[in-house]
Amino acid sequence: MARTALVTGGTRGIGAAISQALKAEGYSVAATYAGNDQAAAVFTEETGIKAYKWNVADYADSKAGISQVETDLGPIDIVVANAGITRDAPFHKMTPEQWTEVVDTNLTGVFNTVHPIWPGMRQRKFGRVIVISSINGQKGQFAQVNYAATKAGDLGIVKSLAHEGARAGITANAICPGYIATEMVMAVPEKVRDSIISQIPTGRLGEPEEIARCVVFLASEDSGFINGSTISANGAQFFA
Ligand code: CAA
Repeated sequence: MARTALVTGGTRGIGAAISQALKAEGYSVAATYAGNDQAAAVFTEETGIKAYKWNVADYADSKAGISQVETDLGPIDIVVANAGITRDAPFHKMTPEQWTEVVDTNLTGVFNTVHPIWPGMRQRKFGRVIVISSINGQKGQFAQVNYAATKAGDLGIVKSLAHEGARAGITANAICPGYIATEMVMAVPEKVRDSIISQIPTGRLGEPEEIARCVVFLASEDSGFINGSTISANGAQFFA
């Protein structure tokens, strides 16, 4: 029977490409979203991938949602913690709310997503935890003290889970996308975006599919010895 994969934030942007790539590989895929019902409905109609609505920042919501996915599709063997938000502001203007929102979603959201799934993976002696971090967690970024802190924290989660899961057949790895052509990057003011693109040696933004192929690689049965690592996909913009 096909293994089940859960992709948080899996109906738009990089997450949508990941959901579709995993489906194309034969996995049973569930994609979550937090708010945009219309985008989720279109995504499901176009791809046949079922979308589930919950807030990854809420542990009880995540646990209940995950339980529903497992009832519908079977035990989750692959979890892709992809859901993330930005609330960019220079530090002197950043509000405590902007800090908390980003931490709750991008960092605590990873805990809330993986924690309810982890005991089942340990029992079944198989699991693939894949966390979508960011180039900005590796290098820092002007106006992203909150975001960069969470994305660096995600790398700490992955490395620690790799230690804990190794004996149980579970791997935990991170992917650090550079600037990818998604709504999140398109929301950056055009002038700033042009200056970012000029710093990418490849000379262009990445495509969501170029991140999805990293996920497919890490999700494979054959990737069991790749554990605790970080794959950077950033067009040579930064070397960790
Ligand atoms: N480096 C250095 N200085 C910068 C800068 C940068 N990258 N970006 C802006 N500045 C400077 C400006 O030149 C300006 O300086 P002056 O006042 O001397 O002219 C100043 O900072 C801007 O200050 P403001 O008070 O006007 O800024 P603001 O409150 O209007 O905020 C901003 C603007 C939020 C910083 C906006 O420029 C922005 O969104 N920048 C992009 C930040 C970014 O790269 N985010 C990444 C999003 S994509 C993502 O996160 C996905 C991923 O994982 C890669």
